[in-house]
Amino acid sequence: MLATHSRRTLVTTAPRRLALSTRAAPVLNALDIASENELPGVYDGQWGGSGDVLESVCPTTGEVLARVRSASPEELHTALEKSKEAYKFFRSVPAPRRGEILRQIREALAAKRDELGALVSLEMGKIRTEGVGEVQEFIDIADYVVGLSRMMNGRVVASERPGHSILEVPNPLGLVAVLSAFNFPVAVYGWNLALSLAAGNATLWKPSETTSLCSIAVTKIISSVLEKNSIPGAVASLVTGGKYVGQAIVESRDVDMVSFTGSEHVGRIVGRTVQSRFGKVLLELGGNNASIVMPDADLSLAVPAVFFGAVGTAGQRCTSSRRLYLHRAVVAEFLERLQKLYASVRPGDPLAASTLLGPLHTRAAVGIYSDAVARLRKAGAEILAGGTQYVDLASPLDGGNFVRPTIAVPKKVDVADAIWREETFAPVLCVGVFDELEEAIQWNNGVPQGLSSSLWTRDLRNVGKWIGPAGSDAGIVNVNVGTSGAEIGAAFGGNKSTGWGRESGGDAWKQYVRWSACTINFSDEAPLAQGVQFSSTA
Ligand code: UN1
Repeated sequence: MLATHSRRTLVTTAPRRLALSTRAAPVLNALDIASENELPGVYDGQWGGSGDVLESVCPTTGEVLARVRSASPEELHTALEKSKEAYKFFRSVPAPRRGEILRQIREALAAKRDELGALVSLEMGKIRTEGVGEVQEFIDIADYVVGLSRMMNGRVVASERPGHSILEVPNPLGLVAVLSAFNFPVAVYGWNLALSLAAGNATLWKPSETTSLCSIAVTKIISSVLEKNSIPGAVASLVTGGKYVGQAIVESRDVDMVSFTGSEHVGRIVGRTVQSRFGKVLLELGGNNASIVMPDADLSLAVPAVFFGAVGTAGQRCTSSRRLYLHRAVVAEFLERLQKLYASVRPGDPLAASTLLGPLHTRAAVGIYSDAVARLRKAGAEILAGGTQYVDLASPLDGGNFVRPTIAVPKKVDVADAIWREETFAPVLCVGVFDELEEAIQWNNGVPQGLSSSLWTRDLRNVGKWIGPAGSDAGIVNVNVGTSGAEIGAAFGGNKSTGWGRESGGDAWKQYVRWSACTINFSDEAPLAQGVQFSSTA
């Protein structure tokens, strides 16, 4: 069965109707969203929603923030139809004009950046500065795409035949579905939407069913810009829903490309399903990211960066640091400093300015964290920090999903062992000790995933090895920069079981178009390529 979200979310349709939290009202009001009743969770030019009711649950307190009416099968069908129609209109809008629409979207987002950031914090659970930072990523990619819309160039290729020219032409692809995860409920959609719209596609968004509010808020902002410009709203449709909605989108032949962020398990199913109908697929799946610290590293930079990489977002980024390989010469000092930082962490309301540690997104994630720690203990790992969930917090945090960031030192590094090769989407950092950089690189590369990696050194020779052919095999290969927190300018994505796809900057836009090789004969002859002769003598 296909779920679009299994790593990170749970279905939240609840039989009991708890009273709505008052926490959400000011944040929602600031975003022009009514805070009572059930909110429509479908947009295809018009707002609707008559499917299952999804509850948005606050991970900090366990309260219900809002109820959202998701897409029924008929509504999904209509949204697909309207999006296809919208594409037919939008593909003929000149690319720089599409860029201008994105400039306006950028302005509208910037005007609500802090409010939207607060909503991310409230609904997803990441701390406020990260919530705002995530909206900033959307603003940044919109900026990027304004320029890109004038630079999505094809090529002229030399033809071997006289009087011929070959053009490589990018044209819009059609309908791009974006299936996003709970942990970046705004930015990842932003990367995809910006490139997809600049390329002239229509986009249909199926967010994680636990972050419907963020998707409604974002879609309201975008739809108002589209409406102002007389662009059909279904150019940027929204269908909230659970796994059946996701499954129907992935299977639909109306969808030319599926951009999916989520677990390796579900990504494998999405990849196969889309491939079986010869659609295009872009996957951003698991990360199991390592930092390697050499003896010459500047620890005053490396320690805080590993701390942010492992504890920031409560370990819920694809790019979070999950493995730390320390050179034997720095182990003692590094761990002492890192433990001090871990000891200073207090859980708190992610909306409060001083909080560094918010909750995990769901109750289920707390179970996954506890299972991972139990597995480490069973394997004889030393737990240097954390290892338990918080049980004694004062109200209202006692209803939240708070866990202690954990540092574990397994007995040895064995990349064939699940301890090292599986991604736990929680703040659990495993430490290993190495003597030679080559050994650490081997460990870095020895896992199935290949998203992000980081080397701490001042020695240029190490840098050369690390970024070269025998170096890190990840999509993100940093030096003296942590594993998480990439900027939008470079293409974002990983290799191996992370999925090989690229979103955001760099050449990622090239995946959102169809390429045509156009050979044009402007001569009076019709020679065949490779000198082939095929003329009849009759
Ligand atoms: C993700 O976790 O899915 O590099 C995306 C980073 C962010 C994006 C993470 N810019 O950590």
